[in-house]
Amino acid sequence: MSGIAMDVSQNGSVRSLDTLCTVGEIEECDFSRLSDRPRHLNIERQRSLSELSIGLSPRFSSRNAENSFRMMDHIENIFSPGIRSGLNTPRSQSYFEPHPMVVDAWEALRRSLVYFRGQPVGTIAALDHSEEDLNYDQVFVRDFIPSALAFLMNGEPEIVKNFLLKTLRLQSWEKKIDRFKLGEGVMPASFKVLHDPVRNYETLIADFGESAIGRVAPVDSGFWWIILLRAYTKSTGDSSLAEMPECQKGMHLILSLCLSEGFDTFPTLLCADGCSMVDRRMGVYGYPIEIQALFFMALRCASLLLKQDDEGKEFAERIALRLNALSYHMRGYYWLDLKQLNDIYRYKTEEYSHTAVNKFNVIPDSLPDWVFDFMPTHGGYFIGNVSPARMDFRWFCLGNCVAILSSLATPEQSAAIMDLIESRWEELVGEMPLKVCYPAIESHEWRIVTGCDPKNTRWSYHNGGSWPVLLWLLTAACIKTGRPQIARRAIELAESRLLKDNWPEYYDGKLGRYIGKQARKFQTWSIAGYLVAKMMLEDPSHLGMISLEEDKQMKPLMKRSASWTF
Ligand code: GLC
Repeated sequence: MSGIAMDVSQNGSVRSLDTLCTVGEIEECDFSRLSDRPRHLNIERQRSLSELSIGLSPRFSSRNAENSFRMMDHIENIFSPGIRSGLNTPRSQSYFEPHPMVVDAWEALRRSLVYFRGQPVGTIAALDHSEEDLNYDQVFVRDFIPSALAFLMNGEPEIVKNFLLKTLRLQSWEKKIDRFKLGEGVMPASFKVLHDPVRNYETLIADFGESAIGRVAPVDSGFWWIILLRAYTKSTGDSSLAEMPECQKGMHLILSLCLSEGFDTFPTLLCADGCSMVDRRMGVYGYPIEIQALFFMALRCASLLLKQDDEGKEFAERIALRLNALSYHMRGYYWLDLKQLNDIYRYKTEEYSHTAVNKFNVIPDSLPDWVFDFMPTHGGYFIGNVSPARMDFRWFCLGNCVAILSSLATPEQSAAIMDLIESRWEELVGEMPLKVCYPAIESHEWRIVTGCDPKNTRWSYHNGGSWPVLLWLLTAACIKTGRPQIARRAIELAESRLLKDNWPEYYDGKLGRYIGKQARKFQTWSIAGYLVAKMMLEDPSHLGMISLEEDKQMKPLMKRSASWTF
């Protein structure tokens, strides 16, 4: 846990999108009302039939065919967005008998709702009163994503809209660490509602990294915000929210931050350690896969949401160029399979000029022993990080799943990632889905890389711990690649323990058998992640809100590994 609630006085003076005003003033003018224009149904933006056909891919078993048919039954629903089946009931209940855990999870998810001036605006990170709060009593942007998806899938988009608008408002705060001002577009890591019992008044306080342990800004928040805006638009058919000038401006600010020119020689985004889900020092500084995959996905979502005015068009052009370069770089240099591993093993070093094969001068001796055993004959993955003379060969779950969902991975690479998960099931899933990364770092390496972090000891927390929240990402990736049986297996494992263990934040151990040393209970994203996984498996058409089809124009020209066919 890296953030600490921020003192409200630190935000005494803040800026709105266009003018300078105070927190109170900002909170007074609620521009969410401006968007209450009548919704128009944009069939284009609904889950399309071509996306539905994902479920009919040849790898589907007869059970999956069953699902696909059920999916067709849902077409009626697809064209009636935003309809609630009844208060406090999961919508899917009317179609199948829910697992008892589903009912429990919905109750727990609703208990985690956070209200601001009478409106639900998010979900609290954890409702565990037995542990010190730290900042687990805040609404985290990244943690809210599975909650938001669950609500969207259940036909309850209002909370998602409120969240998007409130966080947008927070983005316009002036953000400072000591005397240094952060970029305008930075979105908060988390926020909290403060009640003033004397004035009977509520205000929001937020953390942009200036209170977080380690003082790291959440690079992922802005990307998740854009991805969620697209999920909302896709699922409701309501494009009026994304079209609001405030939302367009919010996107422009995020894009200006990540598309700015500098000293970079790579199209990937340079980041500090701890700037995303792994929010402590874990050796993920540089160009971590999680951020690059989210960057790619957010750029693709933004290009769908940007208005075609002068500014929008200019951003769209910059996005197209960056996407092209980014996919080329990622698909080539981050991809590791048996053939590529063997090539690196045999690399020559100190090559100069454009003819260099080993472009980043990676020394073969830096290949860790474990990777030779871990690499299956069939399969591959995007490695954790690539920078000069440094390849982080660790497997990171979130980055690889988002690469599949955003189509950063080619269809062949996506299939290879799933092959790897299947053949390394014990290592990556074990007894509780799913390892945040593999393998853990230990001993001397742990001391150097984590700075002796007692929370990130081997096979715990971010260091090879198992996080149930990742189940929704795995399930989405499974559905997209036509392998729902893998998700089903993982969900069954989660069902054997999650409720009984009170929805822990993470599990420890090589197999994920033990409730995490410092894991919070009733961790909201563990609950929501399970619900999203269940709902998506039951109705694969939900996948459309969080998945993008391959953009055929983005195919790279080079061919580096025999196992890809472009
Ligand atoms: C921990 C996790 C982070 C999460 C937060 C709230 O700090 O590392 O990813 O957002 O808790 O659950």
